Amino acid sequence: MPNQIKIFKKINSYNKSINVSSDKSLSIRAVLLASQAVGVSTISNILESEDVLNAIKSIKKLGIECKKIGNQYKILGYGLNSFDIKKKTTIYAGNSGTFARLILGLLVRTKKIVKLTGDKSLSKRDFSRITEPLKEFGVNIKSKNNSLPIEILGSEFLKPINYSETRGSAQCKSAVMLAALNTPGITKIKAVSSRDHTEKMFEHLKIPIKIESKKKFDLIEVQGLNQFDAFDYIVPGDISSSAFFIVLTILSNNSKIRIKNVNINKSRIGIITILKKMNCKIRFYNTKIYKGEKTADIIVESSRNIKGINCPVYLNSAAIDEFLVIFLIAAKAKGVSNFKNLGELNTKESPRLNISVSFLKMLGVRVDRNKNDIKIYGNPNLKISKTLHMKNYLKDHRVFMMSCIAALSFIENGEVIIEDKDSINTSFPSFLKILKKLGAVIK
Ligand code: S3P
Repeated sequence: MPNQIKIFKKINSYNKSINVSSDKSLSIRAVLLASQAVGVSTISNILESEDVLNAIKSIKKLGIECKKIGNQYKILGYGLNSFDIKKKTTIYAGNSGTFARLILGLLVRTKKIVKLTGDKSLSKRDFSRITEPLKEFGVNIKSKNNSLPIEILGSEFLKPINYSETRGSAQCKSAVMLAALNTPGITKIKAVSSRDHTEKMFEHLKIPIKIESKKKFDLIEVQGLNQFDAFDYIVPGDISSSAFFIVLTILSNNSKIRIKNVNINKSRIGIITILKKMNCKIRFYNTKIYKGEKTADIIVESSRNIKGINCPVYLNSAAIDEFLVIFLIAAKAKGVSNFKNLGELNTKESPRLNISVSFLKMLGVRVDRNKNDIKIYGNPNLKISKTLHMKNYLKDHRVFMMSCIAALSFIENGEVIIEDKDSINTSFPSFLKILKKLGAVIK
């Protein structure tokens, strides 16, 4: 089966209502916390993508019972540190940085060695950001070059740590919070603000946690060794998957979309803040609170008169997975846009800052780069009128989806060939189906 698609023309105008795939961060956290709870947790509307399915397979390998009944996953936990590991066990995280980093936090007291492996992209990513703090708890960790495969052997003599998270990485913060669950005493974290789903789930589960939010960082204290009960959770839609349709609609003519029931946690909606500052028409409707998390329908309309932005650095973490498509809006804006301090983008599934710069240049957009800062010279008449071939050597799902959105927004009389269609199975298996429902012609 060819793993490549071709797009020959822009999408026609549409006015539709869609559901996107369920939130990946929440799905993975719900599975991991259910594995440590006491009793049967029921998780509905979980994201059934490779990243989450690898998380489920892995906790099963670690001795947790997990069954799918209808649209629900039932996970039977026996409490903290109740993984049943009889001999050295290997688990496979596939492409998922989130699962790989968070599960390490839950393995700090295991009595047998667990080996963690991943695919080619994940095996290139840095794990020292996780293994360094975990070693401070007293865990034994072996890895070559700070990357996967990693072998971890827990300790019975863990001690709480004081940890300072400076990158704005929710994965680092969450891995330490999960390690704190199995550690006696109080673990203290000072973290640059980043997505706070783990904090919200801890609060909902009544795990002893204190959070003090300062202007630029949060102070978090987690008291360890407190059992918590099983729970029910219904996972809402993913803002990061919605982002592709938000941007497509803004860039298309006379179109409108309603994306239903999406998580709009404040720490995730950097894209909305940024695009509104650029003059784009986006509204929330039907806002609700569910277990501490905000959800809403997102209504987006085509926008003319998009203007450039000096993107405030404090929004970087809240928009971290969305910059690939935010840059497409900047490319079509009137005026110059500045984005700063985006080094973290190069630590993702593929080096996304480098890839974005090359991609924009391939589209004919002027981009000036100074290390981790970029300046995009917008062109309201931006068009693709030649054949472009988008290779995706690390099979990055978001690079594939961004390339589709660029093609459907900008093609005038060219064609865009995009490799690695299967990469969408990582986070958003129904992506192409939804595009076709909106009227996209994709071969
Ligand atoms: C995630 C955090 C972010 C994000 C990733 C999901 C999470 O990574 O890029 O897709 O669920 O915690 P970092 O924490 O490394 O920035």
